[in-house]
Amino acid sequence: MAEVAKKGLEGIVVAESKTSLVNGQEGKLVYHGYDIETLAANAQFEEVAFLLWNERLPNKQELEGLRASIAHEAALPADVLAQMRQYPKDADPMAMLRTAVSALAMFDKDSEDQSVEANRRKAIRLTGQITTICAAWNRIRKGHDPIPPRKDLTLAQNFVYMLSGKANSEPDLTASNAINVYLVLLAEHGMNASTFASRVTVATGSDMHSGVVSGIGTLKGPSHGGANAEAMRMFLEIDEPENVANWFKTNIKEGDRRIMGIGHRIYKALDPRAAILEQHAEALAKSSGNLKWFQIAKQLADAARADSYFIERKLYPNVDYYSAIVLYTLDLDVDMFVPLFAMSRVVGWTAHMMEQFANNRLIRPDVNYVGPMGLAWVPVEQR
Ligand SMILES: CC(C)(COP(=O)(O)OP(=O)(O)OC[C@H]1O[C@@H](n2cnc3c(N)ncnc32)[C@H](O)[C@@H]1OP(=O)(O)O)[C@@H](O)C(=O)NCCC(=O)NCCS
Repeated sequence: MAEVAKKGLEGIVVAESKTSLVNGQEGKLVYHGYDIETLAANAQFEEVAFLLWNERLPNKQELEGLRASIAHEAALPADVLAQMRQYPKDADPMAMLRTAVSALAMFDKDSEDQSVEANRRKAIRLTGQITTICAAWNRIRKGHDPIPPRKDLTLAQNFVYMLSGKANSEPDLTASNAINVYLVLLAEHGMNASTFASRVTVATGSDMHSGVVSGIGTLKGPSHGGANAEAMRMFLEIDEPENVANWFKTNIKEGDRRIMGIGHRIYKALDPRAAILEQHAEALAKSSGNLKWFQIAKQLADAARADSYFIERKLYPNVDYYSAIVLYTLDLDVDMFVPLFAMSRVVGWTAHMMEQFANNRLIRPDVNYVGPMGLAWVPVEQR
């Protein structure tokens, strides 16, 4: 008897990993031994990258070394920038990112080198370059020249600086700090779909750029990274806090829509990242003087939390729910939310790919054939 297929591979363990623990019952997330709450309160994004790539925190000199390397490597090849100027301005930014990262491989002298050292260099380079691509694209598509990265800034500061439109200006501190927390929270998350896709890709012996391209393509979907933009579009559709109750009744209770940013395959308790982001979303909204979007999100989450359908299925806000409010309050375009997720998750993808390379075996699951057998061949003219 063939084994019954597990739809969505739910509950299937596919690897041993030292990168992160996701405890869905308790709502706990740990990056290589450190609780996510501790990292969100203290860590610079580069510290988290060092932790995930090296299985320990850096000392001061190592942290500065990694920050400087990422900032140095963040510059894009002129040919890739020239290509980006040719992309359709209304392209989906994730399609743009997938294409630009694929192009980067052809300009990277390490691209086909599978040594440990080359993979580390590529992890650093891709982390810097993806941030620059995101910021540059947001300017190119609006008809502005991209601003090159600065060598003295952290990745979060560089992103805010390159996006700002003011060359040689100092990046806004509140925005840089908020982006830093966002990047720390999104960097790694067990065997999520995009991480799995990147591990499957390199397990064939393919290269790290291909693995990142697979990760980007997978993250793009609304059941994964695409949910942050969809959550914001939903809040925009609701438009006013007083519309929440009616929207919930019409679209969720009486309709067949899902609340985007709610529910998770692993978390059957509150996603710890959502709890942290809720606080940041509220603080940012208060300081911006516009609480409306936060109030809509909060009221909708409260409506779901009080509803038996959501209670029975253990559906809580996930990371994408309040991150939508954080990013919107920072004035980011909604369709840039998913590329921002990729800016962070590239660190987790590359950490997992390095783990895969270190103990590789082709990932090749099985399938139960349920089609017909023994059919007779009928020539095409007779079909
Ligand atoms: C994340 C997600 C894809 C997980 O999917 P999954 O583990 O395969 O769970 P399922 O899609 O089987 O959902 C389980 C049940 O909860 C319901 N459900 C799940 N998420 C829901 C949501 N956001 N709103 C309303 N109902 C939801 C499903 O309808 C299903 O109900 P049923 O048992 O009566 O059929 C799903 O919760 C979802 O679509 N959420 C919205 C998108 C999102 O925020 N994605 C980002 C994840 S980090």
